[in-house]
Amino acid sequence: MTLENKFGLDDVAELARVEERTGKKNALELFAGGRLENFSAGTFATLAEIHRVLFGEIYDFAGKLRTVNLFKGHFRFAAAIYLAEVVAQVEKLPQKNFDEIVTKYVEMNVAHPFREGNGRSMRIWLDHIFKTELGVVVDWSRVDKTKYLSAMELSPIHDAPIKKFWPTR
Ligand SMILES: Nc1ncnc2c1ncn2[C@@H]1O[C@H](COP(=O)(O)OP(=O)(O)OP(=O)(O)O)[C@@H](O)[C@H]1O
Ligand SMILES: [Mg+2]
Repeated sequence: MTLENKFGLDDVAELARVEERTGKKNALELFAGGRLENFSAGTFATLAEIHRVLFGEIYDFAGKLRTVNLFKGHFRFAAAIYLAEVVAQVEKLPQKNFDEIVTKYVEMNVAHPFREGNGRSMRIWLDHIFKTELGVVVDWSRVDKTKYLSAMELSPIHDAPIKKFWPTR
């Protein structure tokens, strides 16, 4: 079963390709247009706007809180029934230094506000916080995808691995 989408695609691989292509194109436009500079760093409204820009072309749920429960591997993300309260609390978390920012990122991942596309929109949201607060961004080209994913899978329990290996510049 594919997610309902605006292109009417019902093939999983085809939807994944179109989602990746449109998502990347829209992310590039978001950066090139300098639009992020007007957003306030670390709020849910900013994350929702990033998600809407990336995925609005393909999904009706873009920028909107999910209404279904989600899990990956052995972890279930925040229950849909109190998701609004969770994101409201998470956006209030401090973001003065590297540690606080990664803690906030980990908590927003535990919330997992959207039906799909959380990772991609949250990585931009994280970079925006790093850039605004600390004047650095993650050098994603130096991030090993497999290690990143393992560290994120561990992060709800232990956040040391995700805090350790992130190269910034
Ligand atoms: N078992 C897990 N426990 C906690 N977090 C996880 C787990 N598996 C994946 N994640 C996080 O969730 C993200 C994937 O969420 P989602 O599929 O909504 O986003 P995406 O943008 O479609 O995918 P991706 O991040 O792989 O590009 C991963 O990038 C990772 O940060
Ligand atoms: Mg996904």
